[in-house]
Order: sequence, then structure tokens, then C-alpha cells
Amino acid sequence: MPEIVILTGAGLSAESGLGTFRDKDGLWTRYRLEDVATPQGFARDPARVHDFYNARRANCLNAAPNPAHFALARLSQHLGDDVLIVTQNIDNLLERAGARNVVHMHGELMRALCAQCGQRWDAPETMHATDPCPLCGAAAVRPDVVWFGEFPYHMDRIAGALADCALFVAVGTSGSVYPAAGFVQDAAMAGARTLELNLERSEIAADFDESRQGPASRLVPDWVDERLAARG
Ligand code: APR
Repeated sequence: MPEIVILTGAGLSAESGLGTFRDKDGLWTRYRLEDVATPQGFARDPARVHDFYNARRANCLNAAPNPAHFALARLSQHLGDDVLIVTQNIDNLLERAGARNVVHMHGELMRALCAQCGQRWDAPETMHATDPCPLCGAAAVRPDVVWFGEFPYHMDRIAGALADCALFVAVGTSGSVYPAAGFVQDAAMAGARTLELNLERSEIAADFDESRQGPASRLVPDWVDERLAARG
């Protein structure tokens, strides 16, 4: 079981140029999440939903990992299975930085899912509502992302890790979406120390033993240096 569980959110990728959701100019100030991030929105207008994720996939392909992604990658390479990185982000910047032991609880922009038969495959750069599933042929392809009202992925593995970790760190997440927002309490209840690294105090900052404020590109490398120095 990992000693450290790290939860990341949109703030981790903000300095790579990928927008956050709830900040000023965040994605949810420009789009209605009911339209583009719910099964009902997809049923009403799949083309609109594909357009939204196609644009985000293009942004992601044009973006590069920032020093916070590289620092988490360095930590995960040094500590191996002693670290689990749980990300709410659907981008692939952690993997591109070389991070290991990453689980995408809200799915992945770069993967496609057939809503008809459950087949998964690597998403093309641009997806269309009329694309056929490569396995069953149904025109029911969707991005393999978790929408509001759907169950996050990998919850058994995450719950097991939270129940057993010594340190829980949240990076760049507002603490407004459950179940991720409840992980700090799960970890604390299991006896872990808890630390928040965020641009500003999040909505749930009071739940953490410690909250540090600043950009992820500075806070995360500093914290990783501290951790690795402490292990000698
Ligand atoms: N460094 C650190 N933190 C930052 C930075 C930065 N450079 N920029 C912004 N932040 C912080 C903000 O202060 C905010 O607290 O990141 C947080 C981003 O919060 P949200 O936009 O709510 O993103 P997130 O917490 O990842 O959202 C959770 O909501 O809509 C869903 O599925 C989507 O996974 C997402 C989930």
C-alpha cells in the first residue's frame, strides 16, 4: 500500500495553459456543465459534447507538462509503489512528465468508450457522434471521461490507499466535487497527516492539517525536494 496519496486537480495543469473549472474565466463560466458533462447533455446533443472534448483534446496536445508535473514524476520515480497519484484531470500531462502510479478517477481525454458495448480504445484527435465503435459498430462513441451523475473510476483502489496512507496531499483542487473532496477526511480518519498545496485556501482548507498557498509550479517542486531530502 502506498505511504503517500496525492490528489491532483485542474490547478496542477493551470500553468500549462489548460483552464480550471471554477476560477474566474474557468470552463464552467463559459459552458453549462449540464450541456457538456452529463449523460443527459450527451443524449440531447452528442455533437456539442464531442466538440467540447475535441477542443480540450487539442489544447492538451498543444500543452506541455509544467514543473509541478515533473516534480510529481520525480517523486513517483524515486518512491515507486510508496506513492499513488490520484488525478481528477483528464489530460495526460502527468504521464508525459514521466509520472508512475497515476490513476485517472475522472477518466482520460485520450481514450474513447463505446456507450453501447463498453469497448475502450485510444481516442483519435477528433471524435464525431457518427463514428462507429471498432468492436460492435454502434454510433455510440464517447470520450472515456466520467460525467456528473456517473461513478468515478478506480474507487476501490483509491479507498484502500486512503485507509492505509501516512500522508495525503491535495494539489490544485477546489474541494467542490465529491467523492474527491471527501478524501482528506477519509485519510485523516485513517490517521494520515494531510497537506493542501493550492493557489489560495480551498473551500475545504480547514479539513487539512496544513495548507500552503502559491502556484503549483513552485509549491510542488519545493515540497517534493523536502520529502526526498527527509528520506535521505
Ligand atoms: N497552482 C495551484 N493551484 C491553482 C492554480 C495554480 N497555478 N491555479 C488555480 N489553482 C487552484 C484554484 O485556486 C482552485 O482551488 O486550483 C483549483 C481548481 O479548482 P476547480 O476549477 O474546481 O478544479 P477541480 O478541483 O480539479 O475540479 C474538480 O470538477 O468539473 C469537475 O470533473 C471536473 O475534475 C473536475 C472536478
